[in-house]
Amino acid sequence: MAAPVKISSVFRPNLFKGKVAIVTGGGTGIGKAITQELLFLGCKVMIASRKLDRLSKSAEILRSQITNNSAKLEHMQCNIRQEDQVKELISTTVSKFDKLDFLVNNGGGQFPSVAEDIKLKGWNAVIETNLTGTFLCCREAYNQWMGEHGGVIVNIIADMWKGFPMMSHTGAARAAVDNLTKSLAIEWASHGVRINSVAPGSSIYSDTAAANYGSQDIFNMNIPGVPAKRLGTVEEVSAAVCFLLSPAASFISGETVKVDAGASLYSTIWKIPDHNKIPAYKWETDNAGCNDEEDGTKSKL
Ligand SMILES: NC(=O)c1ccc[n+]([C@@H]2O[C@H](COP(=O)([O-])OP(=O)(O)OC[C@H]3O[C@@H](n4cnc5c(N)ncnc54)[C@H](OP(=O)(O)O)[C@@H]3O)[C@@H](O)[C@H]2O)c1
Repeated sequence: MAAPVKISSVFRPNLFKGKVAIVTGGGTGIGKAITQELLFLGCKVMIASRKLDRLSKSAEILRSQITNNSAKLEHMQCNIRQEDQVKELISTTVSKFDKLDFLVNNGGGQFPSVAEDIKLKGWNAVIETNLTGTFLCCREAYNQWMGEHGGVIVNIIADMWKGFPMMSHTGAARAAVDNLTKSLAIEWASHGVRINSVAPGSSIYSDTAAANYGSQDIFNMNIPGVPAKRLGTVEEVSAAVCFLLSPAASFISGETVKVDAGASLYSTIWKIPDHNKIPAYKWETDNAGCNDEEDGTKSKL
């Protein structure tokens, strides 16, 4: 049997006592770590995702780890691509916990493929999950609670700053969420809503994400391009999320925090083979009459 995980946090105990959060995809990987840290800090948390079996098992473990008396965990099935289910997620959370202070849009996913092989169905699924699902959760959180009472939203996006070869669908969706974050930060500021994003590098190892991709290799192949020369941890993403949710970030909105050890500045794993398929654009040269020395005039320089 695996040793019990000792949850901890760099933030002060009870920081989120009395607060209520929704974490989509909160039963696995990064979302699970965020949920664990929020619970540790006294928050009441609703986790939501599609696979009820896995979510329920995870909820049971998360409940068994609670050490803070103020913390509470609920879970419910929700596909963020379905508008009616998102509406229900928000209304159920508000009716169970009487409020909604934080929304963490972490639920998401994609599959690796070169762009030319992505079928419309796959493209739409990735856009609907990562962009539309995030939008629906933000809109419903705002319409049902935060528009009147304020709140804080954090969107988990990805390292798509140099494009996202092999993941063009999610790169497009995450870049759109980066922009959505800015729009909503302005539109909703006067309602007391702050909204930011966290962009983990493509190197945050979690068992569930590795299982989705069928191997750990997709993470390990990134290590040479990470300035820290190691994979990132789910705890390192969670800490950034908790900071943005906390009052320490009360003057930060519309921003994206990269959690990638500088990898997005340093390298790309995509190699372009040598080729000559993009010839240079040049004007036709016509030397007659163009040379100052030859036609007897002297340059003044
Ligand atoms: N790990 C990394 O290196 C990395 C890097 C950049 C960005 N990210 C992003 O960070 C987030 C968390 O990823 P992770 O690494 O922790 O992987 P993960 O464990 O696979 O987490 C994805 C979570 O999203 C949920 N989800 C997926 N589609 C959903 C939908 N339509 N509705 C509701 N929930 C949905 C999944 O649960 P169900 O299957 O039960 O729905 C799962 O709990 C994802 O958005 C991921 O793309 C991860």
